[in-house]
Amino acid sequence: MWTDGYKYIPTCGAVAMKIVALISQKGGAGKTTLAVHLASRAAADGRTTAIIDLDPQATAASWGDRRVANAPEVVSGQAVRLPALIKAAEENGAEFLVLDTAPNADQTASLAARVSDLVLIPCRPAAFDLEAIETTLLLAKAAAKPAYVVLNAVPPRSSIGKEAAEGLSGRGAQVAPYSLTQRAAFAHGVIDGRTAQEFEPNGKAAQEIDQIYKWLCGLVDMPTRRHARKAA
Ligand SMILES: Nc1ncnc2c1ncn2[C@@H]1O[C@H](COP(=O)(O)OP(=O)(O)O)[C@@H](O)[C@H]1O
Ligand SMILES: [Mg+2]
Repeated sequence: MWTDGYKYIPTCGAVAMKIVALISQKGGAGKTTLAVHLASRAAADGRTTAIIDLDPQATAASWGDRRVANAPEVVSGQAVRLPALIKAAEENGAEFLVLDTAPNADQTASLAARVSDLVLIPCRPAAFDLEAIETTLLLAKAAAKPAYVVLNAVPPRSSIGKEAAEGLSGRGAQVAPYSLTQRAAFAHGVIDGRTAQEFEPNGKAAQEIDQIYKWLCGLVDMPTRRHARKAA
């Protein structure tokens, strides 16, 4: 069931619900970071947005508990209930649904990928992370959904991100044209249930989220609004 505090916020020009799954076998890759930032960005764009947190660690759900703003709605759930939760999101008018998953390439991640319009695979540009990504790429391929690696926590002022992207492309992976840099705002902003863009609205972290958000809107065919607005 959807939580009590859920409010349907009607938006003009509503679109059919788009689902984006964050999957990666590696812990600490940035699944939850991307989930909460992209969902909040969509909410600020006037999209009725929800996150389903499928990770038993419930990091996104705890973030939602700390959050003062009503949007995005964050619901904790198990894979077995995913179809029912997706239906509830749709019935509650959700236009943008983000699935955050545990660091596993298991049945839950596979199910999340299969029900999604787009799979994002966050990955740090570090040797162990790049090595471990293969299983996740195979899982996304089996789901037959558009899947992109999003490089995350890229060291600033270095060629490491570019080299990692080239290496991944060479292995046949699709790499998002935008990445997230290692920035304090991404970690600090979430402490009290906010996001980097709310913590530092004109900061570089906010700009990076903006770029990825607009890029993914193009992929899932969800028009962006001209002016971002504050989450309700
Ligand atoms: N781009 C970034 N810059 C700074 N810190 C980051 C960045 N991405 C993630 N982190 C931090 O790294 C840790 C792991 O990120 P998280 O999103 O929880 O990974 P996952 O959900 O894949 O396990 C968190 O403490 C998060 O705040
Ligand atoms: Mg997580």
